[in-house]
Amino acid sequence: TSPIRTGYVEVGEDKFCLPVYYQKYEESLKSFDIFEDDVFICGHPKTGTTWCSEMIWLIVNNLNYEGALSKEIYKRVSQLELCSLFNISEKPGADNYNKYAGLQYIAEAARPRCIKTHLHWSLLPDQIQNGTKKPKMVVVLRNSEDSCVSLYHHSQMVEKYTGTFEEFCTLFLAGRVCFGPFWKQVLSYWEQKYRPNLLFVKYKEMKEDLPAVIKKVSTFLGKTYTEEEIEKLSKHLSFESMKKNPAVNHEEVFNKLKEVGYTTSDSCFIRSGKVGAFKLKMSPDMIKKFEAWTKENLNGTGLSVE
Ligand code: A3P
Repeated sequence: TSPIRTGYVEVGEDKFCLPVYYQKYEESLKSFDIFEDDVFICGHPKTGTTWCSEMIWLIVNNLNYEGALSKEIYKRVSQLELCSLFNISEKPGADNYNKYAGLQYIAEAARPRCIKTHLHWSLLPDQIQNGTKKPKMVVVLRNSEDSCVSLYHHSQMVEKYTGTFEEFCTLFLAGRVCFGPFWKQVLSYWEQKYRPNLLFVKYKEMKEDLPAVIKKVSTFLGKTYTEEEIEKLSKHLSFESMKKNPAVNHEEVFNKLKEVGYTTSDSCFIRSGKVGAFKLKMSPDMIKKFEAWTKENLNGTGLSVE
């Protein structure tokens, strides 16, 4: 590991950008015990992993809406590496997260566990990488431009990012945002696509035909639901419904961050929820840079997020 941007280090071959605090947990994350019936939600930050987590938790838990509405998402779907992202106890409003951020909490969670991760494939627990445990893993994909805009707002909110949007885009392209470089992170999963325990889901297809995605994911997870049940779940997962649902919109923490003046941003977690909205925010020059960079990274890989 070596320093790369204040507060971050680069890890491994792909120069994966992680908070300095990560180093303390690298080994515990690698040796973390996996169960065969775990379900993983994987994806770069801001690709729709919370949306997908809510869908998967409900599919796995036999559409238990009462359970979903009464407990915040971070208590039901733990983020594997959350403990390693920052000294969470130092963050205002994070008191709630503290006891849910540790690996111990995940280790003891009721099974089947739903676990989310933004980590590069090579940093996942050894048992997953070497195939001794084969939990089902759903990988979420979204275009890099919308993910970048979303991460910019998120970074203003939770990382006190104060640079310009243009500067953030430059950092994103250079792989110097948390969990970057974006395409290296995405391709690290794509390279594993031959494994039958992985399923890829696109943000765009969730926007275009959510019931079809619910069906596909349910089948993958060994569940069958009726058309009516799928219809109801689609409504529950709609942007409008999730935006006002305190169990998934992180409003408690975001409001606290605003209240104590940690951030001056007025953004929220479930923010815009669109495909292609980056065109209203990015300059034509920057869009060209993203296009060329995406082409260069995806060339010959067979991967498309459209
Ligand atoms: P935007 O900031 O572009 O709106 P993650 O959970 O991986 O951090 O991703 C967050 C992104 O997913 C945000 O994107 C958020 O609005 C979007 N999102 C969350 N729930 C959604 C939903 N029900 N429909 C569409 N987009 C959703």
